[in-house]
Amino acid sequence: MKYEVLKKDKTDEETSGHALHDYDKMYASFSWKASEKEFVSDDGCLNAAYVAIDRHVGTWRRNKLALIFEDEAGFIEKFTFEDLSLLSNKVGNILKDFGAERGDRVFLFLPRTPYLYISFLAILKIGGVAGALFSAFQEQALFDRLEDSSTSIVITTSQLLPRLSGIRKKLKNLKHIITVDTDDFKTSVANASADLRIAGTRPDDHAFMLYTSGTTGKPKGVVHVHKAIVHQAMSARLVLDLKEDDTYWCTADPGWITGISYEILGNLALGITTLVFSGRFDPKRWYTLLAAHKVTVWYTAPTAIRMLMAQGVSLPKSFDLSNLRHLCSVGEPLNPEAIRWSIKAFGRPFHDTWFQTETGAIMIANFATLDIRVGSMGKPMPGVVAAIVDDSGRQVPNGTEGNIALRPGWPAMMQAIWKRLGKYHSYFINGWYMSGDHGTKDGDGYFWFIGRADDVIKTSGERVGPFEVESALVEHPAVVEAGVIGKPDELRGEIIKAFVVLDKDQRSKIKNQKDGERLKEELMEYVKKHLAGHAYPREIEFIDSLPKTRSGKIMRRILKAKELGLPVGDTSTLEEY
Ligand code: PRX
Repeated sequence: MKYEVLKKDKTDEETSGHALHDYDKMYASFSWKASEKEFVSDDGCLNAAYVAIDRHVGTWRRNKLALIFEDEAGFIEKFTFEDLSLLSNKVGNILKDFGAERGDRVFLFLPRTPYLYISFLAILKIGGVAGALFSAFQEQALFDRLEDSSTSIVITTSQLLPRLSGIRKKLKNLKHIITVDTDDFKTSVANASADLRIAGTRPDDHAFMLYTSGTTGKPKGVVHVHKAIVHQAMSARLVLDLKEDDTYWCTADPGWITGISYEILGNLALGITTLVFSGRFDPKRWYTLLAAHKVTVWYTAPTAIRMLMAQGVSLPKSFDLSNLRHLCSVGEPLNPEAIRWSIKAFGRPFHDTWFQTETGAIMIANFATLDIRVGSMGKPMPGVVAAIVDDSGRQVPNGTEGNIALRPGWPAMMQAIWKRLGKYHSYFINGWYMSGDHGTKDGDGYFWFIGRADDVIKTSGERVGPFEVESALVEHPAVVEAGVIGKPDELRGEIIKAFVVLDKDQRSKIKNQKDGERLKEELMEYVKKHLAGHAYPREIEFIDSLPKTRSGKIMRRILKAKELGLPVGDTSTLEEY
């Protein structure tokens, strides 16, 4: 295999004091038990919100900045660790007044404003299970998640509230909706006590959950426990290389796992000052943020990097980005051109990292002191055992394609799929957690990503299940059936493409190309409005029938092969094609 190597200058790295100097040595000596000692109290309790915030309040970090918010309009708000401690105590008391109890699911349907972070911490403090809902979700996506999780309280804003109004009555377990930008709420916060007894949760108690998509069926609730923070913090230290004086910016939204693990828990557990930007993506604005806040460590995603790349190197060169010292990327394959471009634009490479909603924290990564094999995801995080295995869970020789698998036992591993034990167990084969990703491992232990083993779509780094999009499309009166795939796209990694079978009457109404285009636009808008702004098909093709198995399952693999002009493979199980 041919690849480019970026050599790391060890002497320079060592003098600048990285937590991970020597990968092999650290990997051999690392133990989760030893790491836990830093975070778990002597009585065996572990509350992730305490670890992230309150633990620091008794130290010199009490007045250190924890979160800096900047919004689209440029309005800045700053919170110290003590501020977050007191405010999350207050919100914890408000939630208790609303009747929230240990184990109750409280979901956040909020943009990246301070109360998203404060409320998340408050829920964990009272022993509740916090759920995150991406703010682009519409009625159907919200209903499926709130219904499945039997959520009792939703916290939102007056702008997002109307999306809940239509489904509220159908949600039997939903008792309260709290709107944080109202005078009522502000008064409640002002009057609430800032004293709260943090629930004495155990390391394995449920802390938060996120819905994520597989190939089939509705999204599943991936449940994480309090001890996940041990792994999130250790990886924030060893992979993101976070140090006391850093100003760190993670561009992810807490509606997804990266935003929870590395914009709230791992980073704050280390006491790191973190920037949160709630505005839209805009290259000039992003560079302005990096320069103005003197960001030192930056964690973002390949689609954003490619969009920055499209603007060229002269734009970043016109800003003072001299504080930047470490760049990391996650969520989709990081193409070699993006790394080469970042060296030109910032004088340093992006470090690819790999994980999933289910793994809860970084599992495979490029480390600051490890040579980069450009195009590789790097090596397993210390404490993580990764391998390439066949479908029956047997390791395959180096260089052979197979499933990226992990040995269970890392602290951030999901501990349940909400109410679906069978689904949870289906992840494990022959003692391995099967990630659903395909890849290879080379002779020196570097992992190389190949693709998903299933039909899950990654568009702009966001995970979308084809079934959810298909279900939304068939709700439209013109649509009889729909098959949805991820179509490779240079900028977004993949875009969502839908093959749609129209109702006969509708079909006869389409007289010319314009009529067809109009209906496609309408279907795109329909999915945006009912499911989610980010999960709509950017491309639609009308088709007479969908390839299906005899049992009626849509063969997306065939749609994809057709789209890409590849051989369709074995079609013997097809009913019609
Ligand atoms: O297919 C892999 C891809 O994203 C999937 C996980 O998505 P999600 O649960 O939304 O979590 C994303 C944020 C951690 C994986 O199964 N993926 C993630 N990181 C990479 C990646 N694909 C290639 N390279 C990566 N570094």
